[in-house]
Amino acid sequence: MEEKLRVLEEMEDTIRTIGVLTSGGDAPGMNAAIRAVVRTALSKGLRVRGIRRGYHGLLREEIIDLSARDVSDTIQRGGTILQTARCHSMRSPEGQQKAAAICKKYGIDALVVIGGDGSFAGAQKLAELGVRVIGLPGTIDLDIACTDYTIGFDTAVNTAMEAIDKVRDTSTSHERCSIIEVMGRGAGYLALWCGIANGAERILMPEEKDDYDEQELIKDIMANKKRGKKNYIIINAEGVGDTINMAKRIEEATGIETRATILGHMQRGGSPTCKDRVYASIMGAMAVELLVQGKTNRVVGYRNGQFVDYDMNEALSMKKEIPQEQYDIAKVLAL
Ligand code: ADP
Ligand code: F6P
Repeated sequence: MEEKLRVLEEMEDTIRTIGVLTSGGDAPGMNAAIRAVVRTALSKGLRVRGIRRGYHGLLREEIIDLSARDVSDTIQRGGTILQTARCHSMRSPEGQQKAAAICKKYGIDALVVIGGDGSFAGAQKLAELGVRVIGLPGTIDLDIACTDYTIGFDTAVNTAMEAIDKVRDTSTSHERCSIIEVMGRGAGYLALWCGIANGAERILMPEEKDDYDEQELIKDIMANKKRGKKNYIIINAEGVGDTINMAKRIEEATGIETRATILGHMQRGGSPTCKDRVYASIMGAMAVELLVQGKTNRVVGYRNGQFVDYDMNEALSMKKEIPQEQYDIAKVLAL
């Protein structure tokens, strides 16, 4: 508590230097967000410090000055020029206090954290220790409750969709069943969107895990074959079950050749789509605008067609669910 008060007391009122880091899984468009933070801040006479490797780098004081030229030629690049990491120490009060003290030591008056809800939980702790923070939603999983859009989802879902189209071609030629595993951690948004966009026969999502009935799925694959369909595409969100073993069991039960494809990290890479570049740029600029207006501990989001910001505690307490009507549509269209 004493430490907390000390950091709070010592924070400057005026913001002169903004820090920026990327944390958690990388996402295409993070560079556009970094670039927008840097250039918007510089245009307002502020200094920008980049922290490399997320909270891990912060704790190791991997802090560099960023100029307008440092972010040249980056908007079209996948990944994050600042690198990213997962950092166990940031979960402990000691780690969090050390991180806040390092922000103070390097004159970082406010920190822009680009990452997912885990990264925001770290930012929330820093906010409690007096560091001004702004969260920008950067994750391919689309699993941040306060926003309909996250930086990287659009690119990732398009990458996955294109890959699944290719799998479908070969699956049709061989009249096979294909199970394609997409990312998303505990969330089924990538699976749902690909399921609709690729015309999958079945979408398996963590949110519907309790309803998963393999016997019923096997019956449907057989019925599908009888109806004259030439393939059966299952989009399996990671977290639902072991895709490879699932394929083996289905092949054994149906007698239909079944192949498993795990798309993996290819979904996280690649040049960001136009949407990811533009939205990430707007969000990055907004982060700086909020700070200049004296607003802190906010998460930037996109809701109902507008860029918005929420109190970080409020944002982190929100819950997000898969829109049932979209899932129902996917099921009807798979007939
Ligand atoms: P994402 O930000 O994409 O959700 P993670 O969940 O892996 O990714 O979180 C990224 C990092 O944020 C973690 O490695 C850790 O340093 C920090 N973090 C996650 N959860 C917490 C927490 N509850 N408290 C403090 N820091 C956290
Ligand atoms: O959160 C983004 C994400 O790609 C998830 O979809 C996935 O579960 C996880 O990160 C993979 O993490 P790692 O890169 O550490 O394997």
